[in-house]
Formats: sequence, structure tokens, C-alpha cells
Amino acid sequence: MPADTNAYGDIFGGWLMSQADIAGSTVAIQVAKGRVATVAVKEFRFVAPVLVGDLVNLYARLVRIGRTSISVEVEAWAQREPDPASRHRVATSVLTYVAVGPDGRPCPVAEVAAVI
Ligand SMILES: CC(C)(COP(=O)(O)OP(=O)(O)OC[C@H]1O[C@@H](n2cnc3c(N)ncnc32)[C@H](O)[C@@H]1OP(=O)(O)O)[C@@H](O)C(=O)NCCC(=O)NCCS
Repeated sequence: MPADTNAYGDIFGGWLMSQADIAGSTVAIQVAKGRVATVAVKEFRFVAPVLVGDLVNLYARLVRIGRTSISVEVEAWAQREPDPASRHRVATSVLTYVAVGPDGRPCPVAEVAAVI
């Protein structure tokens, strides 16, 4: 949407990063079966610009489960007029989440799953 652009009229990178964070967190929450916090974003790569009017699709894939951490690879793809069937890969990243307990501190993934 136009409200998501930078001063030059392109989609603001931070908007796409926030969408990737949301997409990745859905996987992490399912694995942890509860609350997670984003601890790190590795190599967020903006492959191609996102344009106003693009339909952006995000795909999240679990890549690693640690003691308390869960890493998720997220890819963003844009569909664009005048060929809505077209697919443009616009960004890739790996985001790491930490399963946290009620006190907001790291909690072993299995333990979180057992508490909630
Ligand atoms: C997430 C948080 C609870 C982790 O607490 P912490 O004391 O730093 O945690 P630890 O050092 O014990 O690390 C916890 C896990 O994160 C991993 N981790 C920490 N820093 C990392 C990094 N830069 N990259 C990848 N993994 C990392 C550790 O390897 C560990 O994983 P493991 O248990 O699977 O081995 C704490 O850092 C925090 O609250 N951060 C803010 C989170 C937040 O608000 N995010 C949104 C920002 S708006």
C-alpha cells in the first residue's frame, strides 16, 4: 500500500522485515507451543524491490531447533500486475526465535511445550 513506502515511493524495507518476522514467528510459535521472542535475524537479503500494488506471499520453513531457540527460513515472493501469475522472489532471511516462559526468559523448547 502507498502508506508502506519510503520517500522515493518504493516499499520500505522495514515493512517487509516485519512481515517476515510475523511469518517466521508463526512457525516458531507452533514448534514452541507458546510464546517466543525474536533474538536474531541472519542475512536478511533484499533480492528485488517490492512495488506498490504487489501481492506479497511469505513462506516460512523450520530449519533448526536448538535447546531454547528455533530458526526459521523465510522467503518473500511478489505477484505483480499486469501478470498476476508471475512470481518474483524479493527477499530471503533466516530468523531465530527463543522460546520464553512466563517470565520472558529462555526456556527449553520441550519444557515450554509441557507448561502450556
Ligand atoms: C530473547 C531473549 C529472551 C534471550 O535471552 P538471552 O539471555 O539473551 O538468551 P541466551 O543467551 O540464553 O540465548 C538463548 C538462545 O538464543 C540463541 N541466540 C542468542 N543470540 C543469538 C544470535 N545472535 N543468533 C542466533 N541465535 C542466538 C542462543 O544460541 C540460545 O539458543 P539455544 O538455547 O538453542 O542454544 C532476550 O535476548 C530478549 O528478551 N531479547 C529481546 C527480544 C525481543 O524483544 N525481540 C523483539 C525485538 S522488537
